[in-house]
Amino acid sequence: MSGYPAVRLRRFRRTAALRALVRETHLEPGQLVYPVFACPGEGVRRPLEGLPGIVQLSVDEVVEEGRELVERGIGAVLVFGLPEQKDEIGSEAYADEGIVQRTVRALKAEVPGLVVMTDVCLCAYTTHGHCGLVREGEILNDLSIEVIARAALSHAEAGADVVAPSDMMDGRVAAIRGILDDEGHENVAILSYAAKFASSFYGPFREAADSTPAFGDRRSYQMDGANPREALREVALDLEEGADAVIVKPSLAYLDVITRVRDRFDVPVAAYNVSGEYGMVRAAAAKGWLDERQAALESLVAMRRAGADVIITYWAKDAAKWLA
Ligand code: PBG
Repeated sequence: MSGYPAVRLRRFRRTAALRALVRETHLEPGQLVYPVFACPGEGVRRPLEGLPGIVQLSVDEVVEEGRELVERGIGAVLVFGLPEQKDEIGSEAYADEGIVQRTVRALKAEVPGLVVMTDVCLCAYTTHGHCGLVREGEILNDLSIEVIARAALSHAEAGADVVAPSDMMDGRVAAIRGILDDEGHENVAILSYAAKFASSFYGPFREAADSTPAFGDRRSYQMDGANPREALREVALDLEEGADAVIVKPSLAYLDVITRVRDRFDVPVAAYNVSGEYGMVRAAAAKGWLDERQAALESLVAMRRAGADVIITYWAKDAAKWLA
């Protein structure tokens, strides 16, 4: 009985109901996180050329979006901000009246059921567009993490449930955990972008967040895409420093890294399904070369199958509709 004709794997593929019964991987709206780009103004919904379907939203519009996310059962929102003003040190990143801080306060007041995460970084707030402070063309580490920790604290003070540092400076998780605990925010969780690779797939995002580096690239702080073992060291260090959960980013070109992190560490693992991965499918679908819905769901299931508990994705709202 070990093979054909007694064994026929097609028996359980015969109908949709049989296939559903033996499905090994499940995708639910509650596992998805929707990124939003908050911008100044009121009633603003500004479409993005490089990220079709995604819009920059003023705070009042983010709140409307937040209500929809709760209705659709989506797990969380991840807030990015476009500041009024940029400067050398990214001071709006930690301003009490900064765009992210105002957005978080509004979401917490108006949509209390929504889990609010914030991206903690300097790149959208600095004139040079780097994720840390710059001196003579160098991205400084130890001074940067002080500013980054202040930004995380300001998000916690505004009411964020989870802060997600994406800068890839060494030691930033410890700096953030330290300042949060000192200031009485011991219940705010840290979801660290632990294994974040220097990637071409962030292209469309940089238009959305207006965060393209003015000189050079991010290779002196983001990881080399060839290094899965180093990714495990990054995750181990972030967990030692106090991260509660970790992100692997991008996702589709790094599914092996997701699996290795999942196998090695018993913490929640998130995959960031980045802008370029979304954009590729959108562009191909617009040309009629593939079906967006099927390609998107196939991609999201692949991330779950690789081992991601949570997926940060621009398809979160669409996927929730498709899965309903
Ligand atoms: C900021 C940040 C980036 C992304 C998330 N946070 C861009 C970058 O590192 O250049 C990328 C997200 C995406 O491409 O969807 N540090």
